[in-house]
Amino acid sequence: MLGEPELPDLEAGDGRLFVCDRDGRYRVLPGVNGLSLMEILRAAELPVAATCGGAAACGTCHVYVGAEHLGVLGPISEPEQWQLDHLMHARDNSRLACQILWQEALFDGLTVELAPLE
Ligand code: FES
Repeated sequence: MLGEPELPDLEAGDGRLFVCDRDGRYRVLPGVNGLSLMEILRAAELPVAATCGGAAACGTCHVYVGAEHLGVLGPISEPEQWQLDHLMHARDNSRLACQILWQEALFDGLTVELAPLE
């Protein structure tokens, strides 16, 4: 069972994240330096199962990343690429949210969309 990190107020100063859920609704969340994107999404009670706990082994944290931030998220590791290669709904802008560690200086304004369930 994953622990649930606390989500601070938007005024916390760690940047903002725009999330489109699977029903097409947008939410604005505070970024939290030091947490993964998966942990931030789960803390906001978005439906991200993260059954592997962030080990890039389940694909249930699959998101589509806005084009403007694709280049700053860092390289895709071999285990992440393997998972992405095996996801039915993968696109060119797919990433695993558990593999993205929030960095306000780079990610402020990041837009992500929860990928459909596999
Ligand atoms: S939490 Fe399992 S792949 Fe991201």
